[in-house]
Amino acid sequence: MPDDLSSARLNATYWDQVADTYQRETHISTRDFHYGPLLPGDKELGILPAITPGMRCLEIGGGAGQNSLYLARLGADCTVLDISEKQLEHGRRLAREEHLDVAFRCAAMDALPEGLGRFDLIHSTYALPFADDPEQVVAKCSEGLKSGASLVITTGHPLYGGEWVKLDEGERGVFLQDYFHPPADTRLTDDSEAMTIAHAYPVSEVVNWVLRSGLHVRRLEEPRPLDLPSMTAEEIAERIPYYSEGWRANFDAIEMIPIVVVIRADRPT
Ligand SMILES: C[S@@+](CC[C@H](N)C(=O)[O-])C[C@H]1O[C@@H](n2cnc3c(N)ncnc32)[C@H](O)[C@@H]1O
Repeated sequence: MPDDLSSARLNATYWDQVADTYQRETHISTRDFHYGPLLPGDKELGILPAITPGMRCLEIGGGAGQNSLYLARLGADCTVLDISEKQLEHGRRLAREEHLDVAFRCAAMDALPEGLGRFDLIHSTYALPFADDPEQVVAKCSEGLKSGASLVITTGHPLYGGEWVKLDEGERGVFLQDYFHPPADTRLTDDSEAMTIAHAYPVSEVVNWVLRSGLHVRRLEEPRPLDLPSMTAEEIAERIPYYSEGWRANFDAIEMIPIVVVIRADRPT
């Protein structure tokens, strides 16, 4: 990692420390492609382009790369980049257990490695909020796409950065003082030794990064969760590829306020 990437270094320290707990407590499926907590996966949302054997896919800030493992099972040639070696170790273990061939590389999205070549699909689920300069990350991803190829990015929704409030009168909703500058999400490890800061941006700003990078926006989604309270454990395991009991406790907010925005954009042919 280059020396000047100090916030990437902070992120590496934070994610190395939380990786074991994150991977143990979050059920992340490799049998579907996830977009965020409690949300339906791509089998229901159908945002990804057609996945064909041999297509080259790159995942940015992929953690243990469950989305890449899903794509690899369909025959894609997948690489996962992440700043945290501990997260990547979980990915290598999963790939061994599931007999899937995926390349895992430690790299900061803020300075993507040279020589990766061009890809048919670049995807990232909830890593962009940790970038110092997310527009530059989007621009670099765009440069890495082949003609006609797709970028699928999921990032934090600015409304979910507001404060979820329940009033005495039984009303509930979100309090967001400034949509254009939503509050940062600062996370500390239990011992307060390591910290990371995630940022959300107005939806129009994210769309404009993508358009300025030369891509055509094909889909923009603010996915809603399925009706969790009516689902059995088997249905949850089958239809919700990113789930934890911790996130379940936030269902009443996620049901009403979008937690992520998903954009698919394609490089013109
Ligand atoms: C919320 S996790 C999401 C991981 C994965 N995409 C998933 O959906 O499970 C955010 C990931 O971004 C990675 N990350 C944070 N800052 C990064 C950076 N500057 N460059 C590359 N990866 C980074 C973290 O290590 C972590 O694995």
